[in-house]
Amino acid sequence: MNIGIHDLSFATTEFVLPHTELAAHTGTDIGKYHVGIGQRSMSIPAADEDIVTMAAAAAAPVVRRWGADRIRTVLLATETSIDQSKAAGIYVHSLLNLPPSTRVVELKQACYSGTAALQFAIGLVHRDPSQQVLVIATDVSRYELDSPGEATQGAAAVAMLVGADPALIRLEDPSGLHTADVMDFWRPNYRSTALVAGQESVAAYLQSLEGTWKDYTEQGGRALREFAAFCYHQPFTKMAFKAHRHLFSTTGHDADEDRMTTMLRLTTAYNEVLGNSYTASMYVALASLLDHAGDLTDQPIGFASYGSGCVAEFFCGTVVPGYLEHVRTDAHRTIVGRRRQIDHATYRDLHEQALPQDGGHHLTPRQTTGPFRFAGLSGHKRLYEHR
Ligand code: CAA
Repeated sequence: MNIGIHDLSFATTEFVLPHTELAAHTGTDIGKYHVGIGQRSMSIPAADEDIVTMAAAAAAPVVRRWGADRIRTVLLATETSIDQSKAAGIYVHSLLNLPPSTRVVELKQACYSGTAALQFAIGLVHRDPSQQVLVIATDVSRYELDSPGEATQGAAAVAMLVGADPALIRLEDPSGLHTADVMDFWRPNYRSTALVAGQESVAAYLQSLEGTWKDYTEQGGRALREFAAFCYHQPFTKMAFKAHRHLFSTTGHDADEDRMTTMLRLTTAYNEVLGNSYTASMYVALASLLDHAGDLTDQPIGFASYGSGCVAEFFCGTVVPGYLEHVRTDAHRTIVGRRRQIDHATYRDLHEQALPQDGGHHLTPRQTTGPFRFAGLSGHKRLYEHR
């Protein structure tokens, strides 16, 4: 049975901070941002945006195109959750008027859980091919101001409709898996910003990639040379290049530098201007590839998913004939291009904003021009609006 990604759509924030602004403030040579980590700007949520508003904005066009009749499960992956108990996907379910006969759940394992959601969705569709699963990966990445991680912040949500006879990507068995107990990046419940051991996190990512590839090979996966392209998790876009070189060198292959650069740049076009979107990042890379490459029909794509802590997975998806009729290139470019540029002072104010915890009635300022907004808090309950 062919199961995979039937549709893919992403959304991001109202605001954008160019790295030139950050560099001017931190006194950093812009080369470190533009070349060293491969980032040019970062998406910054308005005061009335969060993972729910981005998730709903990403999923709304998918539901508009295909309807909701066959969606019986919503899996929302995030590591920047807004509630310790209630699944953020329930707010999305409500904003999108999805049918009540739906199961909704939230998944967490750092940046990896979007891939877990996708794999679990495949299992559900196998059980009943008439069903579709709405998988959403949505995150706002936040580090301490003036920390090395600050330049890698960003935000985005990706919505994927998973079902039988997919229109975009047919997902294949096997997967290569790797788990290890490491503290490379984490966020205790009492913190709003992540803690990270920067260089160790890069090393853990590369070791996990190696582990997944070893398992993928042992499980009878494809040979490395068969892949037409690779979508890597991109905490910063330079990481995709490090990962690709590492994968090829540890398996005794020469990575053709020119070919590698051309291919990987097709996957980094959105992430270099959105920043890290954690769970969504690898699927933003896929959107970038589908939107910018020539015809990829029948080509196998390698996916290397990594979530700190850590869990990683390598798997393959093959591009389905006719997919070009279904890609959302114009919409994605509009979503990226419509963001309003803010200055460094405004960015810092937004970064420092904390929600009141007194249980009172607090409305957020009306800033977003997107389709959904986080209107505020009342009695410790989050209020959302459809514009
Ligand atoms: N011109 C060009 N390049 C320059 C430069 C300049 N003027 N100045 C520095 N560079 C280069 C450096 O040579 C270096 O390149 P290489 O990596 O190829 O050696 C690169 O810019 C970065 O410089 P540093 O290593 O000195 O940067 P740093 O230590 O200040 O920060 C970082 C780098 C550790 C990745 C930091 O951004 C960070 O902590 N990021 C958050 C953690 C992260 O993203 N980890 C990735 C793996 S974990 C993961 O994937 C999960 C997740 O999503 C978080």
